[in-house]
Amino acid sequence: MKEHSTKLTLLTCLSDGQFHSGEKLGELLGISRAAVSKHIKGIQCWGIDIFRIQGRGYQLADPLEMLSQSSLVAASDDASVDVIPIIDSTNQYLLDRTSELSSGSVCLAEYQAAGRGRRGREWVSPFGANLYLSMYWKLDAGMAAAMGLSLVVGVAVVEALEKIGVQGIKLKWPNDLYYNDKKLAGILVELSGQAGGAANIVIGLGLNMSMKSEVEGIDQPWTSLTEVCNGEVPNRTELAQALICAWHTALTDYELNGMSGFVPRWNRLDNFLGRNVRLLIGPRELEGEVMGINEQGAVLLKTHNGLESHIGGEISLRKND
Ligand code: ATP
Ligand code: BTN
Repeated sequence: MKEHSTKLTLLTCLSDGQFHSGEKLGELLGISRAAVSKHIKGIQCWGIDIFRIQGRGYQLADPLEMLSQSSLVAASDDASVDVIPIIDSTNQYLLDRTSELSSGSVCLAEYQAAGRGRRGREWVSPFGANLYLSMYWKLDAGMAAAMGLSLVVGVAVVEALEKIGVQGIKLKWPNDLYYNDKKLAGILVELSGQAGGAANIVIGLGLNMSMKSEVEGIDQPWTSLTEVCNGEVPNRTELAQALICAWHTALTDYELNGMSGFVPRWNRLDNFLGRNVRLLIGPRELEGEVMGINEQGAVLLKTHNGLESHIGGEISLRKND
């Protein structure tokens, strides 16, 4: 963190959207103009566009509003809220601390250097453009109940977005949010062993908000809330507050009542309901029509052999139409 503090101070200066000369920035930070230039290059590596115009100085290409830790803390009850601007992975941060956390503790970041998706795939995480949010939850029902969590949290996220007027977002089994058949967000559920009968769970969400189309490293069609909301994206801190609150409610409900109430809620939002898909199950491939999910959180597929249910971390769903 300390090694990033100069860059973060520079960014805070630039976040007013004005030009700032290298000389003034250097004076403010007690460093040379050459050092300013070096730090600006480092900031650009986090995925932020900064212009430099001879005689005027540096300016951010786009407005930047950083997450407000104080607003997030004020809105939380007992659980901790850690906003770590530069991090490897918000999921990893919580997984490393499960013994000292209470259920509902969250970690948010502006940039992840090693954001990850399922099966260790990279989650592209440029600075300030998206939401990277993770929550620790001690699941008393144990490991077996963890499979349903990405579905429960997915439903909670889409419904929370609908509540603030963001419509049209769908779900792809078991862990993605989609818009217009493109990936908008992903949910990653990870476990760090048992605490008695309970399981230590970390749930992470990467939600694209205003990610630039030039971003590299994503190997499938993707989108951001800018497209969903015609440029009027919600404030990131307020959205994070709404999501934290929605996750609390959904996880508590899941612990008390299980999956049953979530089944119709998921099915209403299923991007592939009634559509033909392929299920990739290790080396095996199955074709069929999606019939929603069951109370275990398994995907239901109408195949030439009849109705089948499939569940497991190694299964991927692909559209087939
Ligand atoms: P499945 O798990 O069903 O195979 P998937 O292809 O979406 O689905 P995941 O592991 O869930 O795979 O997600 C990781 C994938 O998401 C990466 O392979 C990458 O293509 C894509 N990806 C990485 N970063 C982003 C991002 N910010 N927005 C959208 N997609 C991303
Ligand atoms: C996926 O689609 O496979 C899930 C992507 C999950 C990304 C989020 S971003 C916050 C949290 N930290 C991580 O390293 N991953 C999750």
